[in-house]
Amino acid sequence: MQKIYPVLDEAEMIVLASPIYYHGLSGQLQCAVNRIYAQGYPKKLKKAMLLLSSGDHGVYDGAIFTYRNSFLEYLHLEDMGIFTAAGEENKSDELLARIREAGAALTDPDDHNVPRLVIRSGNVTVKAKMNDSFAARDFMNRLPITVTGEDSGVDYCCELEDGAIDETELQDGWKNGDINTYGGWLAILYGGEEQSASYRQMIIAHLDEEDNRLIQTLPKEAVFDLSLEEPFKKQ
Ligand SMILES: Cc1cc2nc3c(=O)[nH]c(=O)nc-3n(C[C@H](O)[C@H](O)[C@H](O)COP(=O)(O)O)c2cc1C
Repeated sequence: MQKIYPVLDEAEMIVLASPIYYHGLSGQLQCAVNRIYAQGYPKKLKKAMLLLSSGDHGVYDGAIFTYRNSFLEYLHLEDMGIFTAAGEENKSDELLARIREAGAALTDPDDHNVPRLVIRSGNVTVKAKMNDSFAARDFMNRLPITVTGEDSGVDYCCELEDGAIDETELQDGWKNGDINTYGGWLAILYGGEEQSASYRQMIIAHLDEEDNRLIQTLPKEAVFDLSLEEPFKKQ
């Protein structure tokens, strides 16, 4: 579980897969599921799917009850489907193809190709989706960078030498969760959207609501290690 917890903290979806053992989930999976409950709600988990295989037909009620009434309900997850394979069905190519398709639909393939800026400070790690502005692409090439920031009440303001930008991509104001690199600053703009219209910004990335909330748990002064998410480094 010590290996699973950190993955669960980052995960947005989970697929439970189990053989039916005596009308229920396998003991091994049930233990892991119980430990997930004990840990409280995983932070970003939103969707779940269930795959079950068995010797006989009509043996799924116990496992499905556990999935629907404890797992989904307790963790507030959206059900993305339940698939079962009894006896010979376990060898069905057609069923396998349907499950593959459902698995692929769990993720948005376009979203997969978006580079993410990993921001680490103390024991907080968040990931901001980078946009495809000229400045964002230039910034990626400058990573990894460490900056020190101070909480101004609406953002963490960190001194950072300006990189290359395309002036036409400058914008007025920001959305809460935006990240700006302009004017000698890197700013993690967690708040203040309503009063932001008069500030010129070069937005390069955006934090989702949960990550934006986590940023606000940091102390007044914080050191940020900025890097690019692993898969993009290799390209
Ligand atoms: C300890 C144990 C209990 C099982 N209990 C059931 C059961 O209650 N109902 C059932 O249909 N299959 C049962 N099975 C069969 C498994 O679900 C089946 O072996 C599993 O889905 C994997 O399929 P495979 O053996 O073809 O790999 C049990 C298997 C084991 C080892």
